[in-house]
Amino acid sequence: MQKILIIGATSGIGRELGRQYAAAGHLVGATGRRQEMLDSLQQEYPDRIITACYDATGSQATTHLDAMVQKLGGLDLLIYNAGWGEPMEALDPAVNLATTDINVNAFLTAILYGWQYFVTQGHGHLVTISSIAGNRGNRHSPSYSAAKAFQSIYFEGLYIKAKKMKIPLYITDIQPGFVDTKMAKGPKFWVAPVEKAARQIIRAIGHKRRLAYITRRWWLVAKLFRWIPGWIYYRIG
Ligand SMILES: NC(=O)c1ccc[n+]([C@@H]2O[C@H](COP(=O)([O-])OP(=O)(O)OC[C@H]3O[C@@H](n4cnc5c(N)ncnc54)[C@H](OP(=O)(O)O)[C@@H]3O)[C@@H](O)[C@H]2O)c1
Repeated sequence: MQKILIIGATSGIGRELGRQYAAAGHLVGATGRRQEMLDSLQQEYPDRIITACYDATGSQATTHLDAMVQKLGGLDLLIYNAGWGEPMEALDPAVNLATTDINVNAFLTAILYGWQYFVTQGHGHLVTISSIAGNRGNRHSPSYSAAKAFQSIYFEGLYIKAKKMKIPLYITDIQPGFVDTKMAKGPKFWVAPVEKAARQIIRAIGHKRRLAYITRRWWLVAKLFRWIPGWIYYRIG
């Protein structure tokens, strides 16, 4: 039985990860801002799910993380799943800053907490749910794609750092394409059901992959994004 903390588990991918991990017999800490969603999740697996209702961007985030780890009685796996972004025509400063707050600042708060905890304990596993969108800038939501790129590049750095330490500290960057949640907006293709996406994420984490595309065929889009020359991408991006 692993002790797993999922930041952002009230809906969508995070909620389904919580369900599937609890169903497999693990102890899950689930967080988010919507108390009623946390309550209904907890009622599904009363002995295996512990919840904490708080804003991951708030100044008390580290205190909440500490309290959750105490309640779990330790920590083996921390998944940073919380995220938000809105497509926008005009570059609304409030939307840009809110996007960076949850996808960069709150991400760093949680990941740095987890890193320190795992280094002290001598083992652990850090996971972020970033996005295929982080592979290239896009005009519909420049702050979202940039923030997700931050997560992926940061995790590549952490991976190298952890490898050099020669301790069992694993780093996994999960890059989903479209998954069928309220987050997936605008024209879509290859949309994965949330159950399938969560299954593939859990498998990638179990294999301690450094990087995984969800669903798997999205590696093709990631490669294409990186390979396509600017003079073409700037017309369609
Ligand atoms: N769906 C897709 O197509 C897709 C594609 C690529 C990447 N992703 C990434 O996958 C992750 C999960 O998204 P999803 O599709 O499952 O969407 P979702 O259902 O909207 O889930 C987002 C989760 O993040 C939490 N969250 C957001 N802001 C928060 C805050 N300030 N404090 C605490 N928790 C916060 C939400 O909880 P509360 O609202 O209750 O706080 C919710 O549990 C996100 O990081 C997203 O960027 C999704």
